[in-house]
Amino acid sequence: MQLSINDNIIHTELEADTPLLWLLRDELGLNSTKFGCGMGLCGACTVHLNGQPVRSCSLTIAAIGNNKITTIEGENSAQIQCLKAVWMQQNIPQCGYCQVGQLMSASALLKQNNNPDEATINAAMSGNICRCGTYVRIKAGIIAAAKQIRVIEV
Ligand code: FES
Ligand code: FES
Repeated sequence: MQLSINDNIIHTELEADTPLLWLLRDELGLNSTKFGCGMGLCGACTVHLNGQPVRSCSLTIAAIGNNKITTIEGENSAQIQCLKAVWMQQNIPQCGYCQVGQLMSASALLKQNNNPDEATINAAMSGNICRCGTYVRIKAGIIAAAKQIRVIEV
């Protein structure tokens, strides 16, 4: 099977029903994307499929077809750069385990909407669970990053 991952065409002989997360971590060594629940419930494994956030633990490699997968290793948008900077400045992570998934959901949101209100942020981030309870900081970080993006885009 041939797939587009982070703008590279890769070849794999894994079974068609293998979850994308297994390919990313075990075969390609893209270990930033995390395994949490394995059931599409926690968001730790979030990557982008044509820019949309998807759960890589629940997406088979056969289902990807010609669509483009982006992991945080290949996500270089202005949105993720602003988010990463704010995440550092505001010490948003605690243990850090959920944070790659959080950032991938947040960057997808900010690409669609550079001025999301609280309800929009809550809806976009509702599938990303943080066992450390950093939700308040995450929301503040998204609002701060959105502000930076609006300045860049002027
Ligand atoms: S590991 Fe994929 S949603 Fe939890
Ligand atoms: S920072 Fe620990 S799970 Fe979110």
